[in-house]
Amino acid sequence: MQDADKATKQTITQAYESNHFNEVLAETLHLGGLELTARVAEIAGINENLHVLDIASGRGTTACFLARQYGCRVTGIDLSDISTKLSTHKATVQGLAPDTGFLTADAEYLPFADCSFDVIVSECSFSLLTNKEIGAQEIARVLKPGGTFAFTDVLLTFPLSQDLKTNLTFSCCFSGAETKAGYLELLEHAGLAQTYFEDHSKTLKKATYQVITGYGSLSAFWDQFGSKADSCCPVSGDTSGSRKLWLRMFREGKPGYGLFSFIKP
Ligand SMILES: C[S@@+](CC[C@H](N)C(=O)[O-])C[C@H]1O[C@@H](n2cnc3c(N)ncnc32)[C@H](O)[C@@H]1O
Repeated sequence: MQDADKATKQTITQAYESNHFNEVLAETLHLGGLELTARVAEIAGINENLHVLDIASGRGTTACFLARQYGCRVTGIDLSDISTKLSTHKATVQGLAPDTGFLTADAEYLPFADCSFDVIVSECSFSLLTNKEIGAQEIARVLKPGGTFAFTDVLLTFPLSQDLKTNLTFSCCFSGAETKAGYLELLEHAGLAQTYFEDHSKTLKKATYQVITGYGSLSAFWDQFGSKADSCCPVSGDTSGSRKLWLRMFREGKPGYGLFSFIKP
């Protein structure tokens, strides 16, 4: 892994290790909460006979929910060692270990053999991958033929201009998001075929409303992260101009949120 990539990945994981997102997203670290996770499970046909991989499993809430609710075996991977430990503890306390287990790993280098999983899920995380082409190839590689990859993520209504992309100095699910066509291209190029799409942009509107009413402004919310997440979501004191670019990203891209499902032929 190149040093720049390593630093970006570290910034991203640190932002999610903090507790700030939980104040808005509650139990899960994705929009739509477990209600949307249940919809993902329904679309992916998750049941007790399947082995599910949760890519970028955060604090293990989704993995434990899937195991409890559908009786499936779940493996979660996340780049954050802190999150892996929290998730393992959660599964143990809930009596779900060892069938629900967690590993610290990079989604771009999955430590599994080809065709290992019946279903792969990922929530609000594919957009964070620094190399989505490799991430998509890894998903296609470890998924069994006939298996489903279902994910929810931030999605841009309009692609960002090249000028803006070149100048963005920070990484987050918004700056890393693709348009619907962009996600499709990446995953189809990796050999997967799209089976379903559902728009969930109202969840982003709801979270934005919660942030504004709870903190006074989006800026006030991001400011809590302080220097810990400087290059992830530029804070008020920013003098490099990142903040302006951050706002321009919202104006140009008009982000929403979507649920996608793909099958490995
Ligand atoms: C928005 S949180 C979502 C967590 C979880 N999927 C959920 O919905 O609760 C994003 C997660 O992606 C993880 N992450 C970011 N880049 C990653 C990578 N390259 N490989 C594995 N995990 C990654 C972060 O550590 C963080 O836990």
